[in-house]
Amino acid sequence: MAIRTILTVPDPVLKQVSKPVDAVTDETRALMDDMLETMYAAPGIGLAAVQVGVPLRVIVMDLAREDEAKAPRYFVNPEILELDGDKQPYEEGCLSVPDYFDEVERPKRVKLRYLNYQGEKIEEWAEGMYAICIQHEMDHLQGTLFIDHLSRLKRAYAINKVKKAAKRNAA
Ligand code: NI
Repeated sequence: MAIRTILTVPDPVLKQVSKPVDAVTDETRALMDDMLETMYAAPGIGLAAVQVGVPLRVIVMDLAREDEAKAPRYFVNPEILELDGDKQPYEEGCLSVPDYFDEVERPKRVKLRYLNYQGEKIEEWAEGMYAICIQHEMDHLQGTLFIDHLSRLKRAYAINKVKKAAKRNAA
Protein backbone atom coordinates (compact mmCIF):
# COMPACT_ATOMS: atom_id res chain seq x y z
CA MET A 1 0.00 0.00 0.00
CA ALA A 2 1.09 3.53 -0.61
CA ILE A 3 -0.11 6.98 0.21
CA ARG A 4 -0.95 8.91 -2.94
CA THR A 5 -1.13 12.65 -3.51
CA ILE A 6 -4.60 14.15 -3.15
CA LEU A 7 -5.39 16.69 -5.86
CA THR A 8 -6.89 19.98 -4.73
CA VAL A 9 -8.91 22.66 -6.50
CA PRO A 10 -8.57 24.08 -9.08
CA ASP A 11 -6.83 20.98 -10.53
CA PRO A 12 -8.71 20.29 -13.82
CA VAL A 13 -8.50 16.50 -13.27
CA LEU A 14 -11.13 16.91 -10.52
CA LYS A 15 -13.59 18.09 -13.18
CA GLN A 16 -13.23 14.88 -15.25
CA VAL A 17 -16.05 12.36 -15.47
CA SER A 18 -14.74 9.03 -14.15
CA LYS A 19 -15.04 5.85 -16.23
CA PRO A 20 -16.62 2.59 -15.08
CA VAL A 21 -14.36 -0.28 -14.04
CA ASP A 22 -14.71 -3.42 -16.23
CA ALA A 23 -14.26 -5.87 -13.36
CA VAL A 24 -12.97 -5.79 -9.79
CA THR A 25 -9.46 -7.21 -10.14
CA ASP A 26 -6.35 -7.28 -7.93
CA GLU A 27 -5.36 -4.04 -9.65
CA THR A 28 -8.65 -2.44 -8.57
CA ARG A 29 -8.13 -3.73 -5.02
CA ALA A 30 -4.56 -2.34 -4.97
CA LEU A 31 -5.98 1.05 -5.97
CA MET A 32 -8.63 0.82 -3.23
CA ASP A 33 -5.98 -0.18 -0.66
CA ASP A 34 -3.89 2.87 -1.59
CA MET A 35 -6.95 5.11 -1.53
CA LEU A 36 -7.95 3.89 1.93
CA GLU A 37 -4.46 4.44 3.31
CA THR A 38 -4.38 7.90 1.72
CA MET A 39 -7.80 8.73 3.19
CA TYR A 40 -6.85 7.56 6.70
CA ALA A 41 -3.61 9.56 6.57
CA ALA A 42 -5.34 12.77 5.45
CA PRO A 43 -7.52 12.13 7.57
CA GLY A 44 -10.90 11.93 5.88
CA ILE A 45 -14.05 9.78 5.78
CA GLY A 46 -14.44 9.37 2.01
CA LEU A 47 -12.29 9.50 -1.10
CA ALA A 48 -12.98 9.07 -4.82
CA ALA A 49 -10.28 7.71 -7.13
CA VAL A 50 -10.27 10.86 -9.25
CA GLN A 51 -9.03 12.74 -6.18
CA VAL A 52 -5.76 10.80 -6.46
CA GLY A 53 -5.71 11.40 -10.22
CA VAL A 54 -7.32 8.10 -11.32
CA PRO A 55 -10.60 8.88 -13.12
CA LEU A 56 -12.31 5.52 -12.41
CA ARG A 57 -15.65 4.99 -10.68
CA VAL A 58 -14.13 3.83 -7.39
CA ILE A 59 -14.79 5.18 -3.88
CA VAL A 60 -13.57 4.29 -0.40
CA MET A 61 -15.19 5.37 2.85
CA ASP A 62 -14.99 4.79 6.59
CA LEU A 63 -17.63 6.36 8.81
CA ALA A 64 -16.42 4.82 12.08
CA ARG A 65 -15.79 7.30 14.87
CA GLU A 66 -12.29 7.66 16.31
CA ASP A 67 -13.13 5.45 19.29
CA GLU A 68 -14.57 2.71 17.05
CA ALA A 69 -12.84 -0.03 15.10
CA LYS A 70 -12.04 0.78 11.49
CA ALA A 71 -14.91 -0.05 9.13
CA PRO A 72 -13.74 0.46 5.54
CA ARG A 73 -16.31 0.42 2.75
CA TYR A 74 -15.50 0.07 -0.92
CA PHE A 75 -17.65 1.04 -3.89
CA VAL A 76 -16.97 0.19 -7.51
CA ASN A 77 -19.30 1.54 -10.23
CA PRO A 78 -21.83 2.84 -7.68
CA GLU A 79 -25.26 3.90 -8.92
CA ILE A 80 -28.13 5.64 -7.18
CA LEU A 81 -31.32 3.67 -7.94
CA GLU A 82 -33.77 5.73 -5.88
CA LEU A 83 -33.87 8.89 -3.83
CA ASP A 84 -36.21 9.13 -0.89
CA GLY A 85 -37.14 11.71 1.70
CA ASP A 86 -36.73 15.39 2.09
CA LYS A 87 -33.45 17.11 1.66
CA GLN A 88 -31.33 17.72 4.72
CA PRO A 89 -28.58 20.31 5.13
CA TYR A 90 -25.17 19.22 6.39
CA GLU A 91 -21.87 21.04 6.71
CA GLU A 92 -19.56 19.27 4.31
CA GLY A 93 -15.85 19.35 3.68
CA CYS A 94 -13.62 17.71 1.09
CA LEU A 95 -9.98 16.62 1.02
CA SER A 96 -9.71 18.37 -2.37
CA VAL A 97 -10.95 21.63 -0.82
CA PRO A 98 -8.95 21.59 2.41
CA ASP A 99 -10.02 23.76 5.36
CA TYR A 100 -13.28 24.93 3.78
CA PHE A 101 -16.65 23.79 5.09
CA ASP A 102 -20.14 24.76 4.00
CA GLU A 103 -23.69 23.55 4.10
CA VAL A 104 -25.07 21.41 1.26
CA GLU A 105 -28.60 19.99 1.03
CA ARG A 106 -29.02 16.43 -0.17
CA PRO A 107 -31.76 13.78 -0.07
CA LYS A 108 -31.91 11.95 3.27
CA ARG A 109 -31.97 8.42 1.87
CA VAL A 110 -30.63 6.89 -1.32
CA LYS A 111 -30.85 3.35 -2.66
CA LEU A 112 -27.49 2.21 -3.97
CA ARG A 113 -26.14 -0.48 -6.22
CA TYR A 114 -22.39 -1.10 -6.36
CA LEU A 115 -19.68 -3.74 -6.42
CA ASN A 116 -17.78 -4.27 -3.18
CA TYR A 117 -14.10 -5.15 -2.56
CA GLN A 118 -14.76 -8.76 -3.60
CA GLY A 119 -16.64 -7.67 -6.71
CA GLU A 120 -20.02 -8.75 -5.32
CA LYS A 121 -23.07 -6.77 -6.37
CA ILE A 122 -24.70 -5.02 -3.39
CA GLU A 123 -28.03 -3.19 -3.27
CA GLU A 124 -28.93 -1.29 -0.12
CA TRP A 125 -30.42 1.89 1.26
CA ALA A 126 -28.06 4.49 2.73
CA GLU A 127 -29.18 7.07 5.26
CA GLY A 128 -27.65 9.51 7.71
CA MET A 129 -23.93 10.16 7.26
CA TYR A 130 -23.70 7.24 4.86
CA ALA A 131 -26.24 8.87 2.52
CA ILE A 132 -24.52 12.25 2.71
CA CYS A 133 -21.05 10.84 2.16
CA ILE A 134 -21.90 8.53 -0.74
CA GLN A 135 -23.71 11.35 -2.57
CA HIS A 136 -20.72 13.64 -2.02
CA GLU A 137 -18.31 10.98 -3.30
CA MET A 138 -20.51 10.04 -6.25
CA ASP A 139 -20.58 13.70 -7.25
CA HIS A 140 -16.78 13.43 -7.63
CA LEU A 141 -17.32 10.71 -10.25
CA GLN A 142 -19.21 13.31 -12.33
CA GLY A 143 -16.53 15.96 -11.80
CA THR A 144 -18.72 17.79 -9.29
CA LEU A 145 -17.37 19.12 -6.00
CA PHE A 146 -19.48 20.08 -3.00
CA ILE A 147 -18.56 23.71 -3.61
CA ASP A 148 -20.28 23.43 -7.01
CA HIS A 149 -23.55 23.26 -5.04
CA LEU A 150 -22.81 26.67 -3.47
CA SER A 151 -23.16 30.18 -4.85
CA ARG A 152 -20.56 31.35 -7.34
CA LEU A 153 -19.24 33.79 -4.76
CA LYS A 154 -18.71 31.11 -2.10
CA ARG A 155 -17.13 28.77 -4.65
CA ALA A 156 -14.68 31.44 -5.77
CA TYR A 157 -13.85 32.21 -2.14
CA ALA A 158 -13.19 28.53 -1.36
CA ILE A 159 -10.95 27.99 -4.40
CA ASN A 160 -9.04 31.17 -3.67
CA LYS A 161 -8.50 30.09 -0.08
CA VAL A 162 -7.06 26.73 -1.19
CA LYS A 163 -4.85 28.39 -3.83
CA LYS A 164 -3.45 30.84 -1.29
CA ALA A 165 -2.73 28.06 1.21
CA ALA A 166 -0.99 26.00 -1.50
CA LYS A 167 1.16 28.99 -2.41
CA ARG A 168 2.08 29.50 1.25
CA ASN A 169 2.99 25.83 1.62
CA ALA A 170 5.15 25.93 -1.53
CA ALA A 171 7.04 29.02 -0.36
NI1 NI B 1 -14.83 15.33 -1.61
